[in-house]
Amino acid sequence: MVINRDTCEIGQASAGAPALCPVCVPRHDFLVITFAHLSDLHIDLGERATDRARRLIDAVRPMAGLDAVLVTGDIADHGTPQEYAVVRDLLARFEVPVLTLPGNHDVREHFGPALLARPSPKHELNQAIAVGDTDFLLCDSTIPGQSGGELSGPTLEWLKSALADRDPDRRALIAFHHPPAVLHIPGVDRIRQIGEMRLAGIVSAHPEVAALLCGHAHTGFVTTFAGRPLVGAPGCVSTSRLPVEQRGSYELDSPPGYALHVLDDDGRLVTHFRAL
Ligand SMILES: [Fe+2]
Ligand SMILES: [Fe+2]
Repeated sequence: MVINRDTCEIGQASAGAPALCPVCVPRHDFLVITFAHLSDLHIDLGERATDRARRLIDAVRPMAGLDAVLVTGDIADHGTPQEYAVVRDLLARFEVPVLTLPGNHDVREHFGPALLARPSPKHELNQAIAVGDTDFLLCDSTIPGQSGGELSGPTLEWLKSALADRDPDRRALIAFHHPPAVLHIPGVDRIRQIGEMRLAGIVSAHPEVAALLCGHAHTGFVTTFAGRPLVGAPGCVSTSRLPVEQRGSYELDSPPGYALHVLDDDGRLVTHFRAL
């Protein structure tokens, strides 16, 4: 006998709670997307940062079937046009779409024209970019002149509208630079994203948000935020350390790393971390 939603005894026994049964759960067959997640390149015109970024890009670039590359900020170290010229050459090596958002070391006025073709933006650089049937909602969490971050009122309104105005059968991923959670690394926690309860309220209203992605911490990490995965990419230029490791607050000689994310046909994000 073929088991389907009409004949499934588990589903009939759990009427009113069909989510308990894998046969009865209505499911979407989403397109699987695979994307690399880089962060904190801190390109500063010195050879060290550029070399580490180039090695990382060369490791990711030949992958077959990659749908996109996400770079979650601190792409330049001082945010000068000269640094972004180097960044643009480096990122041009990818043959797939490269999604970039600014970090606290970036400067909107130079980041926008160089990487987003937006002339001299003074306001937040928020972007909605479709990859397959997934919408990447890239939020600008920077506060000009400050190391810490926050999603501003206009950015939260933009995110609310971007989520409300889209087809809810499409998946969404939200990305920004600053993690909206305590990571138990004192130097990072002091400059994390604050005001996160407003973001949590928005995420909670949208089950189609599969995960939140960020950088800034210079360490690969996984936790939860508003019931969704919150994943940070390793740093390219350096690696932060937990106090328990007793190796100082950060290391320059740890290898650069990145994350590979698979957003599968169930809408589940699976993350693999790699170090060179
Ligand atoms: Fe950084
Ligand atoms: Fe940062």
